[in-house]
Amino acid sequence: MSINPLTFNLITIDHAFHSAGLPVLVQPTQSPVWRDCFEEIKQLVEQQLHVKGGLLFRGFSIAGAEDFNAFARAFGHDLLTYDYASTPRNEVSSGVYTSTEYPAHQVIPLHNEQAYTLSWPLKIWFHCEIAPEQDGETPIADSRLVYQKIDPVIRERFVKHGLLYVRNYGNGLDLSWQQAFGTDDKTKVEAFCAKHNIECIWKADGELQTRQVCQAISTHPITQEQVWFNQAHLFHVSNLDEHIRETLISVVGEENLPRNVYFGDGSPIGDDDLKHIRTVLEQCQVRFAWQQGDIMMLDNMLAAHGRSTFSGDRKVIVAMAQGYSEQN
Ligand SMILES: [Fe+2]
Repeated sequence: MSINPLTFNLITIDHAFHSAGLPVLVQPTQSPVWRDCFEEIKQLVEQQLHVKGGLLFRGFSIAGAEDFNAFARAFGHDLLTYDYASTPRNEVSSGVYTSTEYPAHQVIPLHNEQAYTLSWPLKIWFHCEIAPEQDGETPIADSRLVYQKIDPVIRERFVKHGLLYVRNYGNGLDLSWQQAFGTDDKTKVEAFCAKHNIECIWKADGELQTRQVCQAISTHPITQEQVWFNQAHLFHVSNLDEHIRETLISVVGEENLPRNVYFGDGSPIGDDDLKHIRTVLEQCQVRFAWQQGDIMMLDNMLAAHGRSTFSGDRKVIVAMAQGYSEQN
């Protein structure tokens, strides 16, 4: 799909911002106030987001988390809460969260948001309030390309069986169930799990295990393109440092690891499969430096995101919208 350049007067669009063609850079030509350009921004998003997968808005004035919240909501959908969380975050404005609060020295591998469950946001926005002094990018990757580059034999194995995610909460090893589900009420956790096809097992020590069989790939609802869409490489035990992996298994047993993933029939996934998947993700990774005030808008099915290590301050906040499930 091509854009008639005459359509846009208040914004410019640079498809060559990155050699990967992703993200597309969007900048104001006159007023930096996003509301002044929003009709054109919205038109661009409707035409291009599901084609390119990601847009980077640079040079627009965004006045804090509330203004970012308003920008994200202006596309017409309520912001989603971060239910059934897998990582620690804080809500800074209604529906706006800090990005995952892992230590600066840790890389967060590429992933599609909430691809470890059966419903997920179609849209996700990142806003850089404080650009990191060094590194700290939010790398992205085209999930269509990832799908295409995965060895068809491995891909077929994943597609055929699906993926069983097993999570054990609390015990100081991972998020508590209260954090993951945002409640202290066990009956609310049970109701959420029943509604979302998650098996919910209370253990003798009062802690929780959940088990859920999910997709390995998905089909984009607009373009019908196939995308690699799971978090096996994050949940699989091979994501742990080898020493930690051995220690944890010897202390709690494999069945009580904070998180793990198997094929949908419960059979193990080989480390080599995950190694291949991580290599493909690395090959598809697109990096660019954040500038303060940037907003990146991704189609969460077409583009995966991660986080590089960084030094100094860094503040990137996140909003998500348009919940989607293949079951609907
Ligand atoms: Fe994420």
